[in-house]
Amino acid sequence: MSIAQNTETAAKLRCIACGATPDSAGQNFRCAACGDLLEFFFPGWTADSPVFEPAALKALWLKRRTSRDALDQSGVWRFRELLPHIPNLEEHAITLREGNTPLYRLPRCARAAGVENLHAKHQGMNPTASFKDTGMTFAASSAHQGKFRWVACASTGNTSASMAAYAARGNMHSLVLIPEGKISWGKLSQALDYGALTCQLRTDFDGCVRILSDLVRQKPVCLLNSVNPYRIEGQKTAAIELLEQLAWEPPDHIIVPGGNLGNSSAIGKALVEMRELKLISRLPKLSIIQAQGANPFYRCVREFGGKKLDPMTADTLATAIRIGNPASWKKALRVLKATGGEVEQVTELEIAVAKAEIGADGIGCEPASAVTLAGLKKLRRSGFVKPGESVVLILTGHALKDPDFTIKFHRGDLFDGTSDAGTPGAGTPDEAEAAQAKCLQRAPVVLEADLRAVIGALDAAERNS
Ligand code: F0G
Repeated sequence: MSIAQNTETAAKLRCIACGATPDSAGQNFRCAACGDLLEFFFPGWTADSPVFEPAALKALWLKRRTSRDALDQSGVWRFRELLPHIPNLEEHAITLREGNTPLYRLPRCARAAGVENLHAKHQGMNPTASFKDTGMTFAASSAHQGKFRWVACASTGNTSASMAAYAARGNMHSLVLIPEGKISWGKLSQALDYGALTCQLRTDFDGCVRILSDLVRQKPVCLLNSVNPYRIEGQKTAAIELLEQLAWEPPDHIIVPGGNLGNSSAIGKALVEMRELKLISRLPKLSIIQAQGANPFYRCVREFGGKKLDPMTADTLATAIRIGNPASWKKALRVLKATGGEVEQVTELEIAVAKAEIGADGIGCEPASAVTLAGLKKLRRSGFVKPGESVVLILTGHALKDPDFTIKFHRGDLFDGTSDAGTPGAGTPDEAEAAQAKCLQRAPVVLEADLRAVIGALDAAERNS
């Protein structure tokens, strides 16, 4: 059996609710019959007639790591056999050599969580410093192939940064809709630098999504939010790359933050497909963590048994996941069921402590990524994760995305004006957690420009360490 060529892996679109299989997607990437989301599937990948020989595929992907070809060097396009075919790819592919992100061991966080074997796959090490680049390279390339002049997204910041960069690289114009005041400066500044038309709307993320959905019906712009199934396909590669890094030995658990729920859906889809193609022999449990103040999916599963999603007004300092009406909740639900994963929610204080712990391991991440460690601690306490099980956290954004949060935490004024208890949805402050936060705080020390003062500070730090 040889490696299948693209024609053998032809992908088709299918509605996740009614099963309709349209030949192409409309401007809003929703099913024309019932309005639900579309996904790609691969009719050729049947269990009885496998198209891929797993060992040959793994060897090909490994070989591409030494290639000088731009697509082979991308941690997304290197795995193109598992992605839908884009015609005339050489002409249309837009790549910043995304993917290729490190897998780090987290010894300090492992002790804090009570597990022996803990890793972080740091998707914040992508070109625009978040996981969005893996989906964006693929979706922007498909927009280019579709001859769109304009691409657009609603965003809490990272999607817009990523989209603006890929649009610029592909000579397309980009329109960004972001909630005014509730995104970090780091992310906003990226969109500006990459030349996007950036509109700060006086609403939240969910409000931006509503306006954009109406806009794409009237204007020929390509929607690049994660309802676009090309985004999901590109984001699958984080899971493929992770498994390659683990020598194709699946961890027991993978833990991801949940916002609009595209990423969890993508990683879960990749796991199921890899199992189907016999690239891995078993499925890790994929668990999804939300901030307590932005927990519609948590409530969907825990309160409504997955039957409905009750949209809410979301609030959390982890602004990336400040989302009350996640588009991909049905896809994420399917992933939870398929892998046997859990859903958890964490408080603002738990997020802040977990973020500082990830920082103290010399790694760092943005607040939304830290919900994974905070969630792991809860899943350990509930017994869902056992001490001897292996766990991988997906860190979705770089620490420098939101330095305001970090500085406020270390100065001790992160919750000023809100207090953790006062932050919507934060719940009762946990005293042990608050004490832990104090231990982790490293406020800058302002001193006279005097050697003795610096030595005094050094000696004091040594005594306290
Ligand atoms: N982590 C970070 C850093 C994010 O930026 C996001 C989403 C998520 C987690 C959640 O991922 O939405 O796929 O469940 N950010 C989007 C944005 C919504 O516009 O940048 P999800």
